[in-house]
Amino acid sequence: MHRFRFFLHTLTGRSLPFLQPFWGTREWSLIARCLAGASLPGQVSGLEAEVARLTRSRYALGLNLGRSAIQVALEAFRFPKGSEVILPSFSCAGVVMPVLQAGLEPVLADVDRDFNLSLAAVEAALSPRTRAVILAHLSGKFARDTEQILELARAKGLKVIEDACQAFGLQKHGKWAGTFGDAGIFSFGLGKNLMGPGGGMLITDDEAVISYARSRPLMWEALGSVRLRAASFAARYGFPRAGFLGSAAAKIPQLCGASSPKAALETLAFEVRGLSEIEAALARCQVARHPEIISRRQANARALLSSGTLGGTGLDLPGPGGHIFTKFLLSTTVNPRAAVSLQEALKSRGIEIELSYTPLHLRPPFAACRRAPLTETERRWPGAFAVPVHPRLGRKEMERIIQVLANFSKQHQ
Ligand SMILES: Cc1ncc(COP(=O)(O)O)c(C=O)c1O
Repeated sequence: MHRFRFFLHTLTGRSLPFLQPFWGTREWSLIARCLAGASLPGQVSGLEAEVARLTRSRYALGLNLGRSAIQVALEAFRFPKGSEVILPSFSCAGVVMPVLQAGLEPVLADVDRDFNLSLAAVEAALSPRTRAVILAHLSGKFARDTEQILELARAKGLKVIEDACQAFGLQKHGKWAGTFGDAGIFSFGLGKNLMGPGGGMLITDDEAVISYARSRPLMWEALGSVRLRAASFAARYGFPRAGFLGSAAAKIPQLCGASSPKAALETLAFEVRGLSEIEAALARCQVARHPEIISRRQANARALLSSGTLGGTGLDLPGPGGHIFTKFLLSTTVNPRAAVSLQEALKSRGIEIELSYTPLHLRPPFAACRRAPLTETERRWPGAFAVPVHPRLGRKEMERIIQVLANFSKQHQ
């Protein structure tokens, strides 16, 4: 029904998609050149140099996906077999699969109200076999306990891989997310703040990590299939999308038919590949525009926060602190029903939302992973969802969202 309504909103030009890349003439001309057969040499090394310069990292290495970069970093540390890696249960297959593919044991830990690992959650997940923590800054917000988790890791001799896939450009006192730990990870794929058809990056100051990463044999994707992916991404997301293509939320693969980590290794396996020149070229354009992308996202988030309409929804808003709003997440621990009816109200007005991840411990392939107590994750995930704040949206579109929030608040007071 909602899909049909969304389709009608699309026909009348009033659908408001959750995802849209912030592409200008440079990105579109790259797509045109790549379709015309250009191979764009030198883009990967150019992107690596640019990201290393911006983040003040000694080394940067482009890979096909953020998850590939996580896997390569884990492999580089050469942990003994059976070593454990702590990660938030509130995350996606792109975080847990690289741990499994590196031959290590994921341990699922709890999150705080921002959906990031807390110090207490990491402490509760520790065991004598723990060797690393994957510290994500989800939705573009620093994990509040970043410094304490880094201290704990130092004291215990653990490696910290900072997953900044949703946080390119997030900074604290001028220091970039991704540069606090032993290795940092970025992604340029679907749903990230610098969004394109794909691409990932590993940054590090550790010479041992980069020399392993650079010497690791890599597969390469055929140019034809990269071209096809880039073109289909452009057609699907480059324009306000047609309703019949379905909602952003529907496309997140929550379940995959696999019932154990071992089976997931077959059905959800990904190939660690080099970064294609085409995706690197697109990512370079986005990197060059990241300050504008971030400030537009922040302006849209500010419009929602300052509208005074969110308080009346009864939902928890993004907490204070540095935030680049890759996602504007709303959640509740007391009233998941209110969250669902607000989701319905937004969808019925043609406004796409993104539902939260189903936590990994509730997804069949990963339910067998060792887990620490997951109290906050279990309380918070059922009512969590994100509203659009992407940089293509302006004042007029944000007003439409605010109007729905205002009506909803009035009805629920
Ligand atoms: C927080 C986080 N980490 C890692 C990944 C994996 O990135 P990629 O899809 O580029 O492999 C994603 C995206 O799926 C993500 O959102």
